[in-house]
Amino acid sequence: MNAVAAFAKTPLPDWPQGWYAFSHSRNLARGQIRAVTLAGQEIVVFRTAAGALGALDAHCPHMGAHLAHGRVHGEHLVCALHCWRIAVDGSIEQRAPRARAWPVREQGGLILIEFGAGRPVPIAGDAQFVWTDTAPLDLAVPWHAVMTNAFDMPHLATVHGRELVAPAQVSMEAGRQCSLQYVSRVSGRGLSDRLMKWISGDRIHVRMVCHGTTLTIETDLGFTRTAACVGMLPTPQGTRLYPVFGVRRGRFQRVRLALARWLFTAFLRRDLYVIEGMRLRTDVDDPALQTLFDFLRTLRPARA
Ligand code: FES
Ligand SMILES: [Fe+2]
Repeated sequence: MNAVAAFAKTPLPDWPQGWYAFSHSRNLARGQIRAVTLAGQEIVVFRTAAGALGALDAHCPHMGAHLAHGRVHGEHLVCALHCWRIAVDGSIEQRAPRARAWPVREQGGLILIEFGAGRPVPIAGDAQFVWTDTAPLDLAVPWHAVMTNAFDMPHLATVHGRELVAPAQVSMEAGRQCSLQYVSRVSGRGLSDRLMKWISGDRIHVRMVCHGTTLTIETDLGFTRTAACVGMLPTPQGTRLYPVFGVRRGRFQRVRLALARWLFTAFLRRDLYVIEGMRLRTDVDDPALQTLFDFLRTLRPARA
């Protein structure tokens, strides 16, 4: 087998380096602690009284108690067993050992943890955007299949009622991101299709970027722009999706936000039933998908 053919058979990484969404921001209030397992690494995430986020190795550096049994006091997570007080950076009050701390941040209504150093943070929209979300969605399919669906141009017509008005443009930066841009028009006749047609003047400019397990989507509808981000968390059953939707701050923002969420959700819902249970094949003759697969294979696996 030559080198190119061998590369094409390389499996897509289950846990690539990057930022992992594991919760919507509003589901971690001040004083709360949540446990999550990423790439086999057990982590606790907590929010201090002042609102700062910490992500720590789940087992206390003293004797290994699980820190999810602890409590937040002020700016510290207090272990339940002997009450060591651990700060968000992993330092421990009046003690030399440190807990391992993971980079964690909030972006567009998602809480993200970084695996791998210096990874670009997935950003959709800009600082002027306001965000909303829908409840997480569980799918019995690996996250690769969900990401592939976003880059699968032929299914726009067969599943979503959209037609491309020009060939899609795809490009990738090895180890960083893969992006796809296209312009579509509405061919579907459902309520959300007709509304989208009316709002957009029937020209929908879309830019999607795959940052490992997180997808950002920016949509230009002529007189308004919307953004979305879908964090994909691998689970034992498949994938949990954390979608967020954003619009520019300004007049009628609540109405525009509700409309953007409804339109994105109506679009996404058409995929969910179809890709459930899919066993993704990567030997498909499609240049956009091959670029995505090549990109995913450049991502190094996350190691705890
Ligand atoms: S095990 Fe955590 S303080 Fe002792
Ligand atoms: Fe789709």
